[in-house]
Amino acid sequence: MRKLYIDTANLEDIKKINSLGVIQGVTTNPSLISKEPKQNFDALIEELAKFCNEENLSLSVEVFASEPDEMLKQARDIHSSLSKIINTDLLRIKIPVGFEELRVIKQLSDDGVSVNCTCCFTEQQMQLAAMSGAKYVSLFYSRLRDTSGNPAEVLRRTRQFIDDNDLDCEIIAGSIRSQGDVSGAWSHGCDIVTCSTAVIKSMTNHPKTDSSVEGFLKDFNNWIK
Ligand code: E4P
Repeated sequence: MRKLYIDTANLEDIKKINSLGVIQGVTTNPSLISKEPKQNFDALIEELAKFCNEENLSLSVEVFASEPDEMLKQARDIHSSLSKIINTDLLRIKIPVGFEELRVIKQLSDDGVSVNCTCCFTEQQMQLAAMSGAKYVSLFYSRLRDTSGNPAEVLRRTRQFIDDNDLDCEIIAGSIRSQGDVSGAWSHGCDIVTCSTAVIKSMTNHPKTDSSVEGFLKDFNNWIK
């Protein structure tokens, strides 16, 4: 099943897009959090967790520590506090990929925490993270393309690796900037695309749709006179 998540920490945007019935989850990151009015971090993520639990939406919350041992502590603290608010089947803790971070991913996974390994740009990063126990691996699709990388090929190779090894891991494509990126990422093997309200809105747009509707209404209104 291909899924669509919204990439934001803005609750009003989440509510608006969720009301359309098109998303199955929410992803956040420290930069998205920083776009919200300055407030208590715990209060913000608890508010998101409450809504996501009510609506059966998955929620990814990223650690903001830079050292692996601190990441592990922060991940456990976030998971412990939010598990009182949201079903842990819906809760994912985001850990950026890295050599030392693999140990964090392994330990959290062994503890039963669903890890979304993020900031991935290569199939090797996603393959190792998946083998370490990450339930989700997140490719930064457009940022990779910005550096002349080939996100389609990275997705295809990661998909093949996960399927060949029967790993319990889903591929998320983030850093999505257009409706073309959404369909491209899905077509190249990712399970989940996460993108902004603006990109989701753009997926409904086409100039010929507008002109077709206008033409129908013009013809009909001329006839009904
Ligand atoms: C995934 O959740 C990523 O954090 C996010 O999509 C990054 O997107 P950006 O490249 O627009 O910051």
